[in-house]
Amino acid sequence: MLTLPDAPGPIGVFDSGFGGLTILRSIRQAIPDADYIYLGDNARAPYGTRSFDIVYRFTLQAVEYLFSRGCHLVILACNTASAKALRTIQQRDLARLDPDRRVLGVIRPTVEAVGRYSRNGNIGVFGTPGTVASKSYDIEIAKLHPDFHVFSQACPMWVPLVENREANDPGADYFVDKYIRQLFGQCPDIDSLILGCTHYPLLLDKIRRFLPEGVALLSQGEIVAESLVDYLRRHPEIDRKITRGGNATYLTTDDAEHFSSLASVFMDVDVRASRVEL
Ligand code: DGL
Repeated sequence: MLTLPDAPGPIGVFDSGFGGLTILRSIRQAIPDADYIYLGDNARAPYGTRSFDIVYRFTLQAVEYLFSRGCHLVILACNTASAKALRTIQQRDLARLDPDRRVLGVIRPTVEAVGRYSRNGNIGVFGTPGTVASKSYDIEIAKLHPDFHVFSQACPMWVPLVENREANDPGADYFVDKYIRQLFGQCPDIDSLILGCTHYPLLLDKIRRFLPEGVALLSQGEIVAESLVDYLRRHPEIDRKITRGGNATYLTTDDAEHFSSLASVFMDVDVRASRVEL
């Protein structure tokens, strides 16, 4: 049993690597006075090709770590972790760790929002192989929008392109074009597209370039931020447990300097990360 600090603390934001920074950026814009701890498990990224059991174990370690740093609320800013670990953590581990703490994911708010975008109900989902294999988007969309049709495409090369700083290089064009063709090969009438991996917004310019005209692209960062604002309004007992200093602390399980230099680009601010062991 962990001994967890009861005093208010920062909001924890977790991803396998850099991708969750796209969510943190939007959350900070929406709730600028909150304190945040961002944790990227860069040493063990990517998660997208790993088994359910491993993603669950790594994610649980990260959640326990963020709780031990004083977080009462942790956002899994990672679709793969949300798909493969969130439910078990919510249903099994929280009762043991501390039933008053909360862990939220990014899939549910995205699915809630998709109804606002689609006119014909044909939804495209890009995700890691793990997220696509989990069928989490198909299952959640079927619950909320039973008339919708979901077409999914795994994009195993997109996360490595982002993590290796190749997202803006011409070599990335091939893989962006390839997966878009494969998705629209399944259904040419997709009218709304979910980028179901928090790394993918870093390929946004290229994705827009190869996407057929008129397809709505959901911005997961803004959707998750909006949903969090609403959640905190409905849950004052959690809201009260968040410190309000407007600070962000950045942690990585891999090299801190490498993380800092890349994160500064994603966040448009100077990021100084520290290395931690989970
Ligand atoms: N950014 C993560 C997501 O949203 C996955 C990246 C990875 O494969 O580690 O799914």
